[in-house]
Amino acid sequence: MTIAETQNNTQTLIDLSKPPAEGIVRVTFLPEGRTVEFEFGTMPYDHHGKPMSFLDVAENYGIFLDHACGGACACTTCHLWIKEGAKGLSEADDEELDRMETAADVQLNSRLGCQAVITKPGSYVVEIPRWNRNYVSEGKPLDLSEEKQGV
Ligand code: FES
Repeated sequence: MTIAETQNNTQTLIDLSKPPAEGIVRVTFLPEGRTVEFEFGTMPYDHHGKPMSFLDVAENYGIFLDHACGGACACTTCHLWIKEGAKGLSEADDEELDRMETAADVQLNSRLGCQAVITKPGSYVVEIPRWNRNYVSEGKPLDLSEEKQGV
């Protein structure tokens, strides 16, 4: 059992070793390990990124996911790695693919958090890259040259 958050931001115990109940979306944001659950189709749009995008979910639950352009597919600060649930997401369109070409540390599972839309109930796990996590913890982006030196 672990603590997860339901739609009204109340905390509840959820057994993450079991899949979410029918009709439920479960999203875990790594490395923070915050998990939220809500009924598919009921989450209000928070006006950041596409409705039901990971950015929309993060904004609904007060989880920090940088979004310098406001979710307009005009930057790459919302870059995420999809660890689980890729088959339940919208396909990346040409605009997202073009934008991703300018992102740092792109992997096969990279998506823009403001563009990747959850299309069905199920379990989703995303990881915020290290340089964005550092932004959260220190209020500024990580200097990647420092990272290479092990600083
Ligand atoms: S917030 Fe700028 S591309 Fe997603």
